[in-house]
Formats: sequence, structure tokens, C-alpha cells
Amino acid sequence: RKARKQLLIDMHEEAKQWFQRNLSVAAGDHCRRYLTDRGMTGEMIEKFALGYSPEDWHGLDNFLKSRGRSPEQGVEAGLLSKNERGDIYDRFRGRLIFPIQNLSGRVIAFGGRVITDGEPKYLNSSDTPIYKKGDHLYGLNLARSTMTRTKRAILTEGYMDVISLHQFGYTDSCGVLGTALTPDQVKRLAGFVSRVDLIFDGDGAGRKAAMKSSRMILLQGVACRVVLMPEGEDVDSLLQSKGVDGLEACMNEAPDGLTFCMNTLRAEYAPRDIMTWAKSFLSDLSDASLRAYYLPRLATGLGLSEADFRRDAGAMTPQRNTQQQPR
Ligand code: CTP
Ligand code: MN
Ligand code: MN
Ligand code: MN
Ligand code: MN
Repeated sequence: RKARKQLLIDMHEEAKQWFQRNLSVAAGDHCRRYLTDRGMTGEMIEKFALGYSPEDWHGLDNFLKSRGRSPEQGVEAGLLSKNERGDIYDRFRGRLIFPIQNLSGRVIAFGGRVITDGEPKYLNSSDTPIYKKGDHLYGLNLARSTMTRTKRAILTEGYMDVISLHQFGYTDSCGVLGTALTPDQVKRLAGFVSRVDLIFDGDGAGRKAAMKSSRMILLQGVACRVVLMPEGEDVDSLLQSKGVDGLEACMNEAPDGLTFCMNTLRAEYAPRDIMTWAKSFLSDLSDASLRAYYLPRLATGLGLSEADFRRDAGAMTPQRNTQQQPR
């Protein structure tokens, strides 16, 4: 079992190097130009070990064979695909390759972006014995040392968002890669930091993800802020067009997670729904001191006195006399 996992990890390391080599030769010219056009530096290409998968159905397939790996092993590693007829071929073709590393820096999966036209825009490794979607945070291995120093994590959506943040000096940044943030990912971050700054895309999906993610982070007793992007921008496009000053301006305006949630609810929902949200947030807080901390803040956000909110919220909020404001 362990030997099997080690084999998959070894194959990922070999594949990573092969992708990197392909980016550096003539076949990778247009991919390198794509990166340059998007403002990415050579330093970041190195740091994130970016690569290129050529337009070839059997490029990696043949390379792995030359290293003594069987096609079936390539399929098990999620590097090759197999169709109904049993043909085995390269999963990633004509794509910019982002290796996904675990905390110890071992490559365990890949993401690939089309650089001309094509669907899907991003193709990721399927789940394998060494990789489960939603268990990892992109770039965490590179961000960890800064995080433990700043006690702050920037959490963003995509590959390019993470890389641009690092390029512009925000080396405590990592990414959820388009999936919903999981409690496990939050626990992982909570081991390094006391605050998470969320920077999701300035669109409906990004705001929705920010709502769910900030709720989850706050519930675990980690502070969070929501850095709002201008409509239609993500942090990569913002940094590339407005630089650090542009992002700092957004950061200076960033509401804390609870304020963001309440503001969003107020803007989009009926008062009763806000009460429902507040009640469920309160009852999901397992820690009594966190409940005591959030109760007055929720009441204020609802425009209620603490006493009224306690009454409305009902039995799940035990009375804690020490926390009550004199009135
Ligand atoms: N994603 C994915 N599969 C898709 C689309 C998106 O896995 N078909 C993930 C990727 O990790 C992507 C992230 O969700 O980076 C955010 O998606 P999106 O905002 O659409 O892409 P960007 O990261 O902004 O990509 P780019 O700037 O290269 O267009
Ligand atoms: Mn062939
Ligand atoms: Mn998006
Ligand atoms: Mn983008
Ligand atoms: Mn985006």
C-alpha cells in the first residue's frame, strides 16, 4: 500500500519534470508567450514549477514507458486516461500545467489550463490514492513559512490568483481551486494562522463562496475578512492592472467576515431570513465563549437589542450573565 503510493508520487515527480522540460523547448513557445502576456515572471514559473503538456496523445504516455512505467500505472496515477475501447492516452494535452503539491512539497496532482480555445478551461487530475479534491490548498506548501510569521492567510479561488499574489509579495496566499472550502481545509489553516483574508472573484459565484467560506471560518474560531474585488475582476486581474496599491485599497475597505455576511443578507434577503441565518450560526458555534462573543454582534447586525435577540433566538443561547451589557 505504501509502496504503491510512493510509486504514484514518483510518477508525478517524473511527469512534473517532463512538463517543465516541454515548457522550456520550442514546442512550449506559445505557452511561455501566454504566461508572459499575462504578466507572469520567470521567477514564478520556476517557483510554481509550471509546465506544458504538448498537443500529443502519447507524449507523457511514451515518456512514462521509457521510465519503465506501464500504461495502467499511468492511468492509476491519473496522468493518463482510458476510454471505453481500452485505449490509453495523455489526459493533459496542449495545456499549461500547474503541479499541485502537498505540504511536504511532493507533487500529487496536476491542473491544466487551455491556452488557446477549448473546453473545459481547467482540467484537473481525478481523485487517486494520493489526491482527493478538497483536501489540499494550492500553494500552501509555499505559503506556510510566511503564514506562520504573519499569522494571516490569504485564501483565493484560482491558480493564477495564487501565483499573482505571490509575485506581488503576498507570499502567505493559497487557493481553494474553485471547489467549496471544506472544514478540513480550514482546520489546516487554523494550525498556522489566526486570521484568513478571503479574496474571491468579483462576481455572483465569488460572493456566494465568500459567504459560505467566511461562515465556516468564523465557526471554527478563526477571524476572517472579506476583500471585495471590483465587479468582473479577480485578484490576478486586479494586481496585473492596478498593482499592490490597487489591492491594498481593497484590503483597507475589507469588512470582517460577520459584517460581510450580515451586509450581504441585508442586501439580498428578507429580515426573517437574516434572523434564520443568525440563529443557525449561533447554534452551530460549539464554543460557549465564541457564542458569547458573537451574540451581541449578531444582535447589532440585526438591529435588535441583545435582550430581544436572545428572546427571539430562543433556547440555543444559554444566558451568560457575565457577558451581558448593563442597560
Ligand atoms: N476551475 C476548475 N475547472 C473549471 C473552472 C475553474 O477547476 N472548469 C477552478 C480552477 O482552479 C480555477 C478556479 O476554479 O483557477 C477559478 O475559476 P475561474 O475564476 O473561472 O478561473 P481563473 O482562475 O480566473 O482562471 P483564468 O484567470 O486563467 O481565466
Ligand atoms: Mn500515438
Ligand atoms: Mn470565477
Ligand atoms: Mn482569472
Ligand atoms: Mn477568476
